[in-house]
Amino acid sequence: MSTPVTLIPGDGIGPSITEATVRLLDAAGADITWDSQLAGAAAVTAVGDPLPEATLASIRRTKLALKGPLETALGKGFRSINVALRKTFDLFANVRPAKSVLPGLRFDGVDIVLVRENTEGLYIGVENYIKVGTDEHAAAQSIAVVTRYGAERIHRYACEYAIRHGRRKVTMVHKANILKYSQGLFLEVGRQVASEYAGRIEIEERIVDACAMELVMRPERYDVIVTTNLFGDILSDLTSGLVGGLGVTPGSNIGNEVGIFEAVHGTAPDIAGKGVANPTAVMLAACQMLDYMGQDALAQRIQTAIETVLRERKQLTRDLGGTATTEQYTDAVIARL
Ligand code: NAI
Repeated sequence: MSTPVTLIPGDGIGPSITEATVRLLDAAGADITWDSQLAGAAAVTAVGDPLPEATLASIRRTKLALKGPLETALGKGFRSINVALRKTFDLFANVRPAKSVLPGLRFDGVDIVLVRENTEGLYIGVENYIKVGTDEHAAAQSIAVVTRYGAERIHRYACEYAIRHGRRKVTMVHKANILKYSQGLFLEVGRQVASEYAGRIEIEERIVDACAMELVMRPERYDVIVTTNLFGDILSDLTSGLVGGLGVTPGSNIGNEVGIFEAVHGTAPDIAGKGVANPTAVMLAACQMLDYMGQDALAQRIQTAIETVLRERKQLTRDLGGTATTEQYTDAVIARL
């Protein structure tokens, strides 16, 4: 039976890279009924709302969305749509795989999945200035909140993910030696969850600064990493950098009910409409989605085709040093299926 999936083409290069991805999935025989919906600047232009109710209703119905990048109009008063989606659907896990595929990079053999807690920590938005004398901004504070509930579900998610994907190890990354309460609780709960998984998967602990150093010295020692919001934000860009940058990095935001899959990069306004955007990240996000849907074999087949084209280096888009258009690159991947 065909699976309904909400498709949000997005802004800038979004429509062309999502179209390329839909074409690839069709060619691979994915049985999906796409429900195309608006968000971002395209939605503002069409209906005056960056996140229309029809789009939310579609995601509520399908519980799955493949999303192109959205333009966030800085300073125009509307909140980030990505944050709004995360909050609306309680998408607590941000999952970012980073795998060495492109030849000639500084590192080979990187295959890391970073699981970032997406709803708590220092990013809850509780911040204020403290006035001293006449200085309104004499000091500032940002509150980090870690809950047992939030920590438990992300640790559990990382362990379950690791087992389901045949991974060997989960590394809990923290700073509990200094932030004894918030990071301390994250680690305490992590250890409790780890005890439940003893014998099924190796679980280790690393302090975030040591982890950052090791990631650029011996990245191949890492497998699945689970960490809090701020550390995950920083380390996930670091791991993307190890494997060729944001252009080839997919990401997913997972909740108990809904999964939203996307590229990590933005709308690339400088190349929008030129037909030269690299669709790899959205294509890999679609593979993450198929895997999430239980269609692991199909996901693997598509991913292998993408990796083959990248390794051959004959049909690469401009950002990767080639001359292929979005269409030519997509044709090359389809030919490799
Ligand atoms: P960006 O990622 O759009 O672009 C940075 C550079 O990378 C540009 O030179 C661009 O041409 C290049 N690039 C990015 N993706 C590419 C691709 N697939 N193929 C070839 N080249 C690519 O970042 P920027 O310029 O900071 O942001 C532009 C807009 O995107 C902003 O409105 C921002 O808010 C939004 N954005 C949206 C995100 C999302 O919806 N998930 C994530 C990041 C930014």
